[in-house]
Amino acid sequence: MIDNLINQLDRICKNAEEEISSAASLVQLSELHTKFLGRKGLVAQLMSEMRNLSQEEKPKLGQKANIVKNDISKILVKKEDELQANEDAEKIQSDKIDVSLPGTQQKAGGIHPLTQTINEIIDIFVQLGFTVEEGKEIEDEWHTFDALNIPKSHPARDVQDTFFVKSSPEIDVSENQTVLRTHTSPVQIRVMQNSVPPLKFIAPGRVYRNETIDASHYSMFHQVEGLYVNENVTFAELKGTLLAWAHAYYGPDVDLRFRPSYFPFTEPSAEVDVTCTMCGGKGCSVCKQTGWVEILGAGMVHPNVFKSVGYDPEKITGFAFGMGPERIAMLKHRINDIRLLYENDTRFLKQFV
Ligand code: PHE
Repeated sequence: MIDNLINQLDRICKNAEEEISSAASLVQLSELHTKFLGRKGLVAQLMSEMRNLSQEEKPKLGQKANIVKNDISKILVKKEDELQANEDAEKIQSDKIDVSLPGTQQKAGGIHPLTQTINEIIDIFVQLGFTVEEGKEIEDEWHTFDALNIPKSHPARDVQDTFFVKSSPEIDVSENQTVLRTHTSPVQIRVMQNSVPPLKFIAPGRVYRNETIDASHYSMFHQVEGLYVNENVTFAELKGTLLAWAHAYYGPDVDLRFRPSYFPFTEPSAEVDVTCTMCGGKGCSVCKQTGWVEILGAGMVHPNVFKSVGYDPEKITGFAFGMGPERIAMLKHRINDIRLLYENDTRFLKQFV
C-alpha cells in the first residue's frame, strides 16, 4: 500500500516536471500550481489516503509528500522566473518607441484678431491714464437714449435700429423698455451716475443693431467708448488725446482729420478720420481715393447729458468718443467682410495666431 502511494507521488512529481517545463504562460503556470499543489490538487488528493495507513507508514508518506511538494514548488518558481523574464522582454520590445519618428503637431490656440485689436486699443488708453469700465449689454431706453439727449421723438432713435428685449403691441410707448444697447454711450451715464468728476475711462463692449447683415454690417459688433469729465476740458484735449492714441496705434506718420458732424449727446461733434495706412494717404481703393478712413465719432459732452446725471453743466465739461474696433481690425488686416470675424472658421482665424 505505502509503496504504491510513494510510486504514485513519484509519478505525480514527474508529470508535474514535464507539464511545467512545457507551460507557455504565467496563467498556465498558475493553473498547474493549482492542479498539483492546490488544496484539492493531485498531491492533496493522494494524501487523503493517509488515513488508511498504519502508524509507522504515515510519517513515511508524509515525508515523501513534503519532498515532492518541495520539488514541484522549486520547479514552479524556476519556471515562473523564466516566463516572467520572457514576458518582460516582450513588453520592452512592444513598448519600444522610435524617437526618430516625426511627432503629431500640437495646434496652438490664439487670441481672436478682434480681441487682439480691442486689447491693443485698451492698452494705449490705459497708458494715457484711462481706466476701463463696463456697463450692461441689456440696457433700458432711458440710459441708452433719453439720458443721452435722444428724446422719444428724435430721429436718431430710429436710425439706431433697436432690438427690444420684450416687444408687445400693448407696451406703452411712454414706458422705459428693455433694449439691447445700440452703442456703448449708456456706460457714460451709468458711470457718471455713480461717481463724481474728474472721470477718465474707456468702456469697450458689444453693441447690437437690427441691421441687414452684409459684408460691412452685422447685428452685433463692438465699440470702445471714451469719456473724460473734468472742469475746463477743451476740444484741444480731445484732439490731443486721440492723436496720441493714433500715433501709438498706427505709428507717428499718421494724422487725424476732424469733420463736423452731429450726435445728440455731443456738441460740437465730429467724425474722425485717420490717414489711410494702406496707401499712406495717397489714395487707394481701401480709402476710396480720399487718403482717409473714418474710425470714430467724438465731441464735447452735451450739457443735457450732464443734467441727466445731476452734474452742473456750468461747472463740468468733458469730451467723449466712440470707436469701432471691427473697422479698425478690418483695415489693419485687410479683411473685406465683417462676417469673417464671427464665423469662427479656423482657416481664417489661424492667420492671426
Ligand atoms: N455713440 C456713438 C455711436 O454709436 C458714437 C459716439 C460716442 C459719438 C461718443 C460721439 C461720442 O455712433
